[in-house]
Amino acid sequence: MDIKPSALALVPFVSVDHMMQLVHHIGLETMLSDLTDYIEADFARWEEFDKTPRIASHSPEGVIELMPTSDGKVYGFKYVNGHPKNTKLGRQTVTAFGLLANVDNGYPVLLSEMTLLTALRTAAASAMAARYLAPKGATTMAMIGNGAQSEFQTLAMKCVIGIDTVRLYDIDPAATRKCAANLADHGLNVVPCRTPQDAIEGAQIITTCTADKQYATILSDNMVGAGVHINAIGGDCPGKTELHRDILLRSDIFVEYPPQTRIEGEIQQLAEDHPVTELWQVITGQRKGRTDARQITLFDSVGFAIEDFSALRYVREKIKGTAFYRDLDMLADPDDPRDLFGMLQRFDQAV
Ligand SMILES: NC(=O)c1ccc[n+]([C@@H]2O[C@H](COP(=O)([O-])OP(=O)(O)OC[C@H]3O[C@@H](n4cnc5c(N)ncnc54)[C@H](O)[C@@H]3O)[C@@H](O)[C@H]2O)c1
Repeated sequence: MDIKPSALALVPFVSVDHMMQLVHHIGLETMLSDLTDYIEADFARWEEFDKTPRIASHSPEGVIELMPTSDGKVYGFKYVNGHPKNTKLGRQTVTAFGLLANVDNGYPVLLSEMTLLTALRTAAASAMAARYLAPKGATTMAMIGNGAQSEFQTLAMKCVIGIDTVRLYDIDPAATRKCAANLADHGLNVVPCRTPQDAIEGAQIITTCTADKQYATILSDNMVGAGVHINAIGGDCPGKTELHRDILLRSDIFVEYPPQTRIEGEIQQLAEDHPVTELWQVITGQRKGRTDARQITLFDSVGFAIEDFSALRYVREKIKGTAFYRDLDMLADPDDPRDLFGMLQRFDQAV
């Protein structure tokens, strides 16, 4: 016997397939621009949110993290992993899913894939930071690390900041070939490079997005000239960084949430009280972003829960009235809310 779930049992679920349909329906660049605006709007109301460093479970191979937050009306969390060796076994470095719930009654209101959405929101957060930090009129970005995130990072800088050229480098030339082929028809001048030095030649924005579970030196001090903006994505775990410490000492450093970034970001290499600027304060006008053309600015990105909340909030709004989700029978809904046991018992009698 097929027992139909009641309305209260159902939670909208966005699968990977639905997410791909949604992105194509909206348009990739439109969605990246929209997400940039959504994240910026939520950073502008930073003080309304519950904030905590994410809860990380480390292993020798990688990390599994939970990222919760709430604005008092809606609660959200993301499950995400980071396993740099996964790609060698056919799995991705990063996968994720997330949930939004009603704070008033605790009932979930959205369950969504977030592997694609994380790539989109990470790129959008980079573009949001670059709005305030990149040199005016930046046209060229170096993209170091040409894996899963790289095309998203590039296209967000194209549609939000206006770059027209991307210079690619990866330790694995096959990754660069893949990235160049994927970006071929997106209205950019794409330049594959053989060395990181070649890639940063003439770039006003340098994005590092590599994956390795170690203190790596993707950029050394002598490679970074005055006036650039560094968008450092890949250093996001204790013991996992991308920049030489001396670069940090020459840069003005901007972060999402200091209690988390001091554990996970490039600044884990610095003293605990090294001055950093919180991005939300720049967005609300309390602190300044880039102030002069020769300054080196660094967005020490680690990824923060509010960015995922913004992305889920966007998806929740955009799927309304569409076929880009299905209802999951996810919440037990007994006729008498206190008779959960009776619901189970009657089910056995009914089938
Ligand atoms: N800050 C954030 O919000 C955020 C969000 C998502 C992912 N990340 C991080 O971004 C990084 C990249 O993620 P991904 O999904 O693209 O990973 P991926 O494994 O798909 O790609 C990483 C690429 O880096 C390359 N690489 C490794 N070492 C290198 C080196 N020394 N020089 C040049 N290239 C090198 C690899 O060959 C690979 O192509 C990961 O470290 C991940 O944890 C951060």
